[in-house]
Amino acid sequence: FSYPDPTAQAELKATAEAIVAPGKGILAVDETNEGIGNLLAKIGLENTVNNRRRYRQLLFTTETLNEHISAVILFDETVHQKTDNGTPFMELLKQKNIIPGIKLDKDVVPLFLSLDEVTTQGLDDLGKRCAEYKKLGCRFAKWRCPLKIGTHTPSVQALNDMAQVLARYAALCQSEGLVPIVEPDVLLDGDHDIVRAQKVTEGALATLYKALNDHHVYLEGTLLKPNMVTPGQGSLQKNSPQEIALATVTVLRRTVPPAMPGVAFLSGGLSEEQATVYLNAINQVQLYAPWRLTFSYGRALQASVWTTWAGKEENVKKAQSELLKRTKANGLASLGKYED
Ligand code: 13P
Repeated sequence: FSYPDPTAQAELKATAEAIVAPGKGILAVDETNEGIGNLLAKIGLENTVNNRRRYRQLLFTTETLNEHISAVILFDETVHQKTDNGTPFMELLKQKNIIPGIKLDKDVVPLFLSLDEVTTQGLDDLGKRCAEYKKLGCRFAKWRCPLKIGTHTPSVQALNDMAQVLARYAALCQSEGLVPIVEPDVLLDGDHDIVRAQKVTEGALATLYKALNDHHVYLEGTLLKPNMVTPGQGSLQKNSPQEIALATVTVLRRTVPPAMPGVAFLSGGLSEEQATVYLNAINQVQLYAPWRLTFSYGRALQASVWTTWAGKEENVKKAQSELLKRTKANGLASLGKYED
């Protein structure tokens, strides 16, 4: 019994390791059309196919982007788009030695009879979709399943469902040659303290890794995209970056097998600076951590890019240098070498 076969395993492992190469991380630009529409609206632009393309072109044509970015997570539409001069984005990324990946979940739906909890959909036809994206040049995928902290949540129902959905997705990805990034996202919303966030994240990851094992997922060919452990956004408690880092690394050490090559954190609602400072502190924790600890940021790599670009052609270069500033800061933070 060997699944996937040794050659397929070697390819998955090599890709996962390349994504978390030292000093590098992931640029997450997989906003749905609705999600990017809100960002375009903030700078007074209409949510058109071309405006979405113009924005992503700005990102991908940034020179030296690959210095600290190993991979990008794309939304379906972007996989098929081209630059102004007709170069397919997929080709441009390949030239820059940046690995393209695809967001495969089809967003959240309510969990029946839960306390306002959710699950993610998109498992139907997933094998077929994986095969199509692999053919188009994608080498990895991402699936996000959020969990809400409340007085009585996450429920056992939500925790188990998250783990099952992510494990089914991961197994299907690997069967088609894509590295699955699994993203159990314990949301920042709420007024809970860091102790509760730690306990919930620990439970979520322990449940997830049991399910990945049940579904025969090859851990060496996967990556984890979790939240950092912080107090809720509405909490009056404030913790230092060192406390946040220690809680985060403690959770990972208790739940994530060393066979898994890398953890690429999401930024959630953290500011650009917080996301960098926390990642740096995480990499300075004096505890043995057998995985690479890096970033897979969406908002925390792009907030300044959006405000600097403001939809104007003459601002493209300045916006690109903002992007490089963030990628460099996070690249250093992934080595524990960032100084603010
Ligand atoms: P944020 O870093 O904005 O949370 O985005 C991460 C994500 O899940 C998109 O792939």
